[in-house]
Amino acid sequence: MTDIVGISGSLRKGSYNSALLRAASAAAPEGVRVEIAAIHEIPLYDGDFENEQGVPAVVQQLKDRIARADGLLLVTPEYNNSIPGVFKNAIDWLSRPASDIPRVFGGRAVAMMGATPGRAGTILAHAAWLPVLRALGARPWFGPRVMVSEASRVFGASGELLDEQLRQQLRDFVKGFAEFISRL
Ligand code: FNR
Repeated sequence: MTDIVGISGSLRKGSYNSALLRAASAAAPEGVRVEIAAIHEIPLYDGDFENEQGVPAVVQQLKDRIARADGLLLVTPEYNNSIPGVFKNAIDWLSRPASDIPRVFGGRAVAMMGATPGRAGTILAHAAWLPVLRALGARPWFGPRVMVSEASRVFGASGELLDEQLRQQLRDFVKGFAEFISRL
């Protein structure tokens, strides 16, 4: 079984990115599991808090989950042409203490996708993640991209996927990412 941890970078109940992650999870082929992890409980990073109390339990648990997984899937919104603060904050906490980065992120296969109601498909958020993944020593997968523009056209009111072409793209994406992992 190939285990992939998927994280959506949006806290919104009606998030297109969370809907995209659920659809990717549902599109996983046999032998591949995309487990959805949440970042809602992760507090704002505060160095004083870390010095006094260490890494919060919720962060530690997610770090361990990623470390056990074969791959990490980041489903990213785009804010102001870059990474949303809440998503970056979560990854920043997950990178603490720095001595644990190799265990959690080192050589870890990472794939990205994103959704926006706009027209540019989160391409600048994708680009903004690259130096972060480089800093963490992760292993990004550069297979065919899933960047959903005009997301209100492809998801229904409850976040259900309405677009069969995107469903096929997601199948191919998850399968391709799992094959990349199996070759590592
Ligand atoms: C946005 N949005 C946005 N969209 C985009 O394609 N490029 C951008 O640069 C921005 N910038 C931006 C800044 C801020 C502060 C907000 C709140 C929003 C719109 C964004 O794509 C939209 O709110 C999505 O619905 C966010 O993703 P979720 O929550 O639906 O997953």
